[in-house]
Amino acid sequence: MSLLIVGGTGTLGRQIVKRALDEGYPVKCLVRNLRKAYFLKEWGAELLYADLSIIETLPSLLKDVTVIIDASTARPTDSYKAEEVDLAGKIALLEAAKLVGIDRFIFFSILNGEKYSSVPLVSLKLKLESYIKKSGIKYTIFYLGGFFQGLISQYAIPILEKQSIWITGESTNINYIDTQDVAKFVLRSLTLEKTENKCFPLVGLKSWNSEEIISLCERLSGQPAKIIKIPMGLLKLFRQIAGFFEWGLNISERLAFAEVLSSGDNFTSDMNDVYKLFEFDQIDTISLERYMQDYFGRILRRLKELNDEKERTL
Ligand SMILES: NC(=O)c1ccc[n+]([C@@H]2O[C@H](COP(=O)([O-])OP(=O)(O)OC[C@H]3O[C@@H](n4cnc5c(N)ncnc54)[C@H](OP(=O)(O)O)[C@@H]3O)[C@@H](O)[C@H]2O)c1
Repeated sequence: MSLLIVGGTGTLGRQIVKRALDEGYPVKCLVRNLRKAYFLKEWGAELLYADLSIIETLPSLLKDVTVIIDASTARPTDSYKAEEVDLAGKIALLEAAKLVGIDRFIFFSILNGEKYSSVPLVSLKLKLESYIKKSGIKYTIFYLGGFFQGLISQYAIPILEKQSIWITGESTNINYIDTQDVAKFVLRSLTLEKTENKCFPLVGLKSWNSEEIISLCERLSGQPAKIIKIPMGLLKLFRQIAGFFEWGLNISERLAFAEVLSSGDNFTSDMNDVYKLFEFDQIDTISLERYMQDYFGRILRRLKELNDEKERTL
């Protein structure tokens, strides 16, 4: 089985590449910046240049590939619209996959997506899901909530750097998960026929709202957070204004998505059947407490070392 991983430089993609290589799979990565992706080559993956927003670069990539794992998504910093990557580019990839008879396409969508079909980024996911299901290619789709890794820049770093954290008043509960655990399920799905043509929620052990995550970070860092609460109405207004301008379309789409994640909804799911089917034990899944403890432990130790070094040189 030979894998093509799309989005290998991303938060989730890199963990999938790492695990796939550790498990002995031959791994090719579709990357649009060979220099940025060089670390994947050092790990043992083969790099293939292509860009989902430049459709002509795609078809030649699939020689000797049996499975495509697509962990890509448009970056908010890119100048083109998300649709070019998250819909048009991926449809082109699927069409090329059909032609060469790819065995399986693995895709990541969003938990509760059908409730938020009017949100542009969610609607792209839903359209692609429907395209995949009708493509005739065997697929596995995972529904995700949010990643532990995203909480570092959102909460942990601002607390350490004494910067403000902006939250809305709504209490949204999200079962965040470590991307290493997502990678574990993804690789296992390749060995389980019963995961073909199926969709699974893939979420962490416990749900957390912003205030609970902030308290956890405060406790582990020993520093208080500076919290600024913004009303949802203001977030909506800013999104609408940004949406009037060409330059603001990407921002507006991201803010619409941020609104979903601040809506007061629950992004949780019962994982008992998924654990049973994938033959994993919940006890082996990393908790947010442990993940944050490791993170703050490492950072605070390093800060202390730097301080000691500074004092020695004075
Ligand atoms: N993050 C979350 O909390 C979350 C929640 C639910 C679902 N998901 C889904 O999970 C998947 C992984 O998300 P993530 O947060 O790990 O993504 P990410 O860190 O933002 O990484 C995005 C990846 O897509 C690649 N990419 C972007 N535009 C591209 C293009 N034009 N051509 C080729 N590659 C391109 C990026 O390459 P460069 O490095 O070159 O930019 C990068 O490798 C996505 O499908 C996402 O929608 C994520």
